Amino acid sequence: MKHLLDLFPLVERHVAPPVLIALGPVWPVTQLVAALKGVETTCFQFDVYQAARLREKLTQENLTAEVVTAADLWDLPPRFQTVLFPATAHSDRELKLDIVEQGYHVVAPGGRFVTLSEYERDTTFAPAHKKVFGKCSEAPRNKAGSVFWSVREPGDRPRRRHRMTYHAKIGDRPSLSFETWPGTFSYGRMDDGSRAMLEVADVRAGDKVLDLGCGAGAVGCLVSQQCGPTGRVTFVDSSVRAVKLAELNAAANGVTNAKFITSGTLTDLPPGEFDVVLANPPYFADSEVGRLFIATAREVLRPNGRFYFVTKMPVVTIPEIVETFGSVESVENRGYTVVIARA
Ligand SMILES: C[S@@+](CC[C@H](N)C(=O)[O-])C[C@H]1O[C@@H](n2cnc3c(N)ncnc32)[C@H](O)[C@@H]1O
Repeated sequence: MKHLLDLFPLVERHVAPPVLIALGPVWPVTQLVAALKGVETTCFQFDVYQAARLREKLTQENLTAEVVTAADLWDLPPRFQTVLFPATAHSDRELKLDIVEQGYHVVAPGGRFVTLSEYERDTTFAPAHKKVFGKCSEAPRNKAGSVFWSVREPGDRPRRRHRMTYHAKIGDRPSLSFETWPGTFSYGRMDDGSRAMLEVADVRAGDKVLDLGCGAGAVGCLVSQQCGPTGRVTFVDSSVRAVKLAELNAAANGVTNAKFITSGTLTDLPPGEFDVVLANPPYFADSEVGRLFIATAREVLRPNGRFYFVTKMPVVTIPEIVETFGSVESVENRGYTVVIARA
């Protein structure tokens, strides 16, 4: 991670305020803000949980920068003289292309879009910059990674949304169609873990269901076929982009009795309200999010309500769910464990 900061001196002379840092993990973004030495800086994130952690870190380090969240980078005004994109090696190629595309629309005319890539030999960004901005400059090769920059010439280009659609059905119920965008979970395909959980879940007409960590909303939309118009589905996620997509997918699939909440702490969910909670937590993230999902489910379920939690790490998660709920059952399906608990 220190590599991204090592790249900054290569572009420092091109940086003019106001600066926007587009995405990036908490610590590298904090280091970049420090390297910018007090120039007007805004940090953009999709995820309110991640944004809150970044605000905390900036405060701890005595640094000043505004942290904003939105579903799309191009929702921000085109007022930035410099947009810095700290592209870590592990981020998806599709998300990288999406950010270059959307980044064009927030650079002020004459301003620069700069990518700092952790790859020493990066083959993604030069063609992407050229395609979007017409030209691309590149810093001399460097062990720490690669640096690319482009200037936004006067004029405009149409917005081009990176998207993929897939179809999914559970059992004999009708197939639904889901649009997905880069940067949200399971881009372009239905997740097998979610499918495994839906095949096992007992959801009845009239049930109030919580899709906990809804992503693009596939679980909640598919389950609405079971709880029907007398039931209700609440979709919640910490990613603003995910919740916007869930809203779009619910509307496109005729899910009318739905509610949408963006939250990273999950404290704004009503206690004792739900008959069913369905959760497919991030697998490889630290188990903090898994624990938050389990504690939240216990809090928001009505007495005897049902909790379904799909995992590839039952050895870790089952004891945590037992500790919170008392006892559990589990079902193996499609290589996943679906843990079932009652409030
Ligand atoms: C494995 S994905 C599942 C997405 C969706 N249910 C599906 O099956 O396609 C986990 C989701 O949890 C969300 N998430 C992670 N941390 C969260 C938090 N603290 N609060 C709410 N949602 C969170 C992520 O943004 C992600 O969309």
